[in-house]
Amino acid sequence: MISRRAAGLPLSSTATLDAHVKKLAAEGVDVINLTGGELDFPTPDVACRGGIDAITSGFTRYTAVSGIAPLRQAIAERLTEKWRCPYEGDDVVVTNGAKQALANAFAVLLDPGDEVILQAPHWVSFPHMISLAGGVPIVVETDAGTGFKFDRDAIVDRITVRTKALLINSPSNPTGVVYSRAELTALAELAAEYNLAIVSDEIYSDLVYGGVEFTSVASLGADTRSRTITVGGFSKTFAMTGWRVGFAAGPRPVIAAMSALQGHTTSAPSSISQRAALAALVDEPIQELADRKAELERRRRLTCDGLADLPGLRLAVEPEGAFFALVDVSGTYGRQHDGVEIKDAATFAERLLHEVQVAVMPGADFGVPDHIRISYAVGAAEITEAFRRIRAFLTT
Ligand SMILES: Cc1ncc(COP(=O)(O)O)c(C=O)c1O
Repeated sequence: MISRRAAGLPLSSTATLDAHVKKLAAEGVDVINLTGGELDFPTPDVACRGGIDAITSGFTRYTAVSGIAPLRQAIAERLTEKWRCPYEGDDVVVTNGAKQALANAFAVLLDPGDEVILQAPHWVSFPHMISLAGGVPIVVETDAGTGFKFDRDAIVDRITVRTKALLINSPSNPTGVVYSRAELTALAELAAEYNLAIVSDEIYSDLVYGGVEFTSVASLGADTRSRTITVGGFSKTFAMTGWRVGFAAGPRPVIAAMSALQGHTTSAPSSISQRAALAALVDEPIQELADRKAELERRRRLTCDGLADLPGLRLAVEPEGAFFALVDVSGTYGRQHDGVEIKDAATFAERLLHEVQVAVMPGADFGVPDHIRISYAVGAAEITEAFRRIRAFLTT
């Protein structure tokens, strides 16, 4: 009964493990959840008030399919002013989270068999989104040697007549790596040389640390902008995961096609959420985002310091953005825990959860089976306690 397209589709491993851990916690298990892609901060007050105002004033009907005009305009202004990408409101479509923006972008870009180049480690959903749209994900491996960034020659080796797009995710989930302006310029030149579209997932753009500068691909010039679909959202910057608001900005024919697709499938996101997002964007005091960033920066330091001298674990690369750290666990292989041998990141994560109740994401679905992803979206006290438990796990 199930189509070939859907039959092989696994549940999202991050969402599944996160749900399992939340269930354990609800059952009273003292578990520390470092799997999540969701900040523990509350949604800003202004955003909540925007949502409440929408309800009480009866702003509860379908909106324009591509989103309400003031929100499209505010997103365009933010991209123009903060990231120097000169977009206008008509260049933007508002979506049900960045997830829908990405899925719809691939759906309108790809014909069956078209190839999209992405790197490993990659966010778990990217390959599935490309396949669901009829495309073929072409995964280019990266490692510590290339700073977990694309190597130009490795991309060129994989380009064929079917290559349609290059997918970039900076800051990256799961590495936290941020591409520099020069590195993005080199990728943009490559895209121009081979006439590729660029899908740039910039959902973590506001969360970069330690003086590192975020560069938006579309700010690199008119030619690059004309081939780029910039994807972003409100889930991470404004701790609004449940409101489901994201966006894409790009060439008008692409945005129009994405709007048409959305018009026949989901329509626009909830009117209430759009008003909340608008309020967050326009009215949130700048200081509040700065405070959230400062707290994340503190947690990042705690995480990196905590990983510094754990036997068998190695921070794969210093994270500069997002709220994840990728950790190589191959140094623990061969250890026995309760009669189970650790032989990959999955067994490591399973034993860690079982023995000391710390949940981390195994890396196989991110394309790195010898690594785990640690999320520092939780409070400092939990991070400290998690490392105390991990040390105990590794030294007994
Ligand atoms: C790289 C990346 N892109 C997109 C998303 C989806 O975000 P949204 O909640 O806006 O759909 C996530 C969320 O985990 C992510 O990590």
